[in-house]
Amino acid sequence: MVKAFGFVDYGGPETQDFLDRPALEPGPGQLAIAVRAAGVNPVDWKIRRGLLGRRRELPSVMGQEASGVVRQVGPGVAGFTPGDEVFGITAAGAFAEQTLLSAGSSALKPEGVGFDQAATLSVSVATADDAIRDLGLGAGRTLLILGIAGGVGSAAAQIARSRGLTVFGTASDTGRAYVESLGAVQIRYGDGVAERITAAAPGGVDGILDLVGGDALRAAVHALKDRTELVSTADQATAAELGGRYITRSTTPETLAALAALVAAGELDPHITARYPLAHAAEALALVESGHARGKVVLEVS
Ligand SMILES: NC(=O)c1ccc[n+]([C@@H]2O[C@H](COP(=O)([O-])OP(=O)(O)OC[C@H]3O[C@@H](n4cnc5c(N)ncnc54)[C@H](OP(=O)(O)O)[C@@H]3O)[C@@H](O)[C@H]2O)c1
Repeated sequence: MVKAFGFVDYGGPETQDFLDRPALEPGPGQLAIAVRAAGVNPVDWKIRRGLLGRRRELPSVMGQEASGVVRQVGPGVAGFTPGDEVFGITAAGAFAEQTLLSAGSSALKPEGVGFDQAATLSVSVATADDAIRDLGLGAGRTLLILGIAGGVGSAAAQIARSRGLTVFGTASDTGRAYVESLGAVQIRYGDGVAERITAAAPGGVDGILDLVGGDALRAAVHALKDRTELVSTADQATAAELGGRYITRSTTPETLAALAALVAAGELDPHITARYPLAHAAEALALVESGHARGKVVLEVS
């Protein structure tokens, strides 16, 4: 049996618990891995709360992105062998000592990339990469990132800066130095944010990446020169109502490998600010569920 962390019913954190489950055999297109690290994301608690549907068989192991060592390769999988160090999207939950990855959304981990860093690439960093590619803004243009200090925002700011964009981002004042370390201009969110955005970017901005949604998005959209240059990862309905769109995920094994190569080269930092052992998974989730985690939160699994 292997230790895992999941939820036994849809609801709040009280439905979470440690579970023992048998080691899983990889099916077609899957890799069985010994997990070394897992990224913690808002989607984990959104799934547990039933905000994304209630179709899962319970109990359900939490976590979407993991890194680890391949133990077994499923039928029809090419390019991976037992012993490979890999990362990718899980098919069976990431918060566990052993799990399955979908080989089609996994890549080899370069030697210079830690298991902790690799565990952040397939959901959080890849989402940032997809969003910046989707916006397609060229060098010299301006981008406003709502919620810049979190996992997706930290990566998006760096990717946008590397493309020559000027980046503004909303965060609390405690995050000011952090946002500036990403090469971006911090704008405090909350009352008066519309005026502060106008003051920071008097001519408006060429794109908005929304990672917050709702009123935060409504308060910022006036600054956007062209409403079609709005992409949201957080609020499909409000983005569409305002003339923008929800993100289209287009991550491939090739884009994952390219992101890992950037991390190995020191050109992209997932900014892991909190690491917890699997035994403290509930604390890691609580930090992310607070909505105020900075950068990435990772579970380390030995
Ligand atoms: N569809 C997809 O494929 C996909 C993939 C990844 C993520 N997402 C979604 O994208 C969103 C962001 O994900 P994430 O991983 O970056 O989240 P996260 O790391 O949990 O974001 C936390 C950050 O949000 C900031 N924040 C909270 N309220 C804010 C506000 N009103 N204005 C500005 N910043 C605010 C906090 O800053 P302070 O501490 O300074 O308050 C904190 O640094 C989530 O809704 C997530 O579910 C979607």
